[in-house]
Amino acid sequence: MTAVEERLHPSPGPPGKDSARRPKKAVASDDGVILQVRGLRKVYEVEDEKVVALGKISLQIKKGEICCILGTSGSGKSTLLNIMAGLEKPTRGHVIIAGREVTAMSEKELAVFRRQNIGFIFQSYNLMPQDTALENVAMPLVFKGVPKKEREARAKKMLARVGLKGRMKHRPSQMSGGQQQRVGIARAFISQPPVVFADEPTGNLDSHTTTEVMEMIVRMARRYHETLIIVTHDGDIARYADRIVRLVDGAIVSDTENVSVVPREEPETVDQPAQTQSKRTKPLADSKQGQNQTKG
Ligand SMILES: Nc1ncnc2c1ncn2[C@@H]1O[C@H](COP(=O)(O)OP(=O)(O)OP(=O)(O)O)[C@@H](O)[C@H]1O
Ligand SMILES: [Mg+2]
Repeated sequence: MTAVEERLHPSPGPPGKDSARRPKKAVASDDGVILQVRGLRKVYEVEDEKVVALGKISLQIKKGEICCILGTSGSGKSTLLNIMAGLEKPTRGHVIIAGREVTAMSEKELAVFRRQNIGFIFQSYNLMPQDTALENVAMPLVFKGVPKKEREARAKKMLARVGLKGRMKHRPSQMSGGQQQRVGIARAFISQPPVVFADEPTGNLDSHTTTEVMEMIVRMARRYHETLIIVTHDGDIARYADRIVRLVDGAIVSDTENVSVVPREEPETVDQPAQTQSKRTKPLADSKQGQNQTKG
């Protein structure tokens, strides 16, 4: 893994002894389903002790859905997210994203797959320290072979969208935590990957900045019709999701539609946006095309 790859998709640690059981063929995705989790189990072995981090998790997430995985510390949220994103192998079970079996891929295949299909937002931002905000945001486009001029133009637009028009040349150490996370958001969405994962994206931020950052993440996801999976221990964060999946001790204890999702209206950006498109989002029922009618 290169340093850049490590920042974008950091490995959670050396792979365990356990290995995934693999079906022979890639499984096609069901109608409208972008991510499928089937019978996922993760057991860590530390010395003689076994820790069951995930019991038997099955889950389906639809394209364009904003799903929050909510649970207390140690409930298995990061383990689940890391396995879904192909950063860790399960002991048993399968993860299929956009019809491709992530759990059956080699490390090499995974690295390519993640670059093409997955965006990440991290609690600790994971920006390249020596690169400017502009360079950090443009990075995913390098992997996609986008020419430099176009990369810069698109990164500038994204930075303006997250209210950082005046911070393009700043390095991470020259920005506040909230600003760094906005760079992280712009980077996660710039290549419009099919799925964006966020692990405690506001864990290092104060409550005011948390609101700003969450509204921004959700606005981006809605704007690009992205599938967004947020894991958090914070019930306030869950308010932003269409769907809330609760984890307790590595098991799903509830999976509900969030009928009072916020924000319903698109707030203004802090800085001047690159273009003032729709000031209002459509009502949720219209814009989401009733996709939360059924749950997997
Ligand atoms: N590499 C590892 N080796 C052994 N046990 C682990 C490892 N990673 C996680 N665990 C254990 O698995 C369980 C789930 O951990 P996980 O990190 O997924 O929790 P979490 O819900 O993300 O918690 P937090 O909110 O504190 O980040 C915990 O009991 C933890 O101790
Ligand atoms: Mg965690």
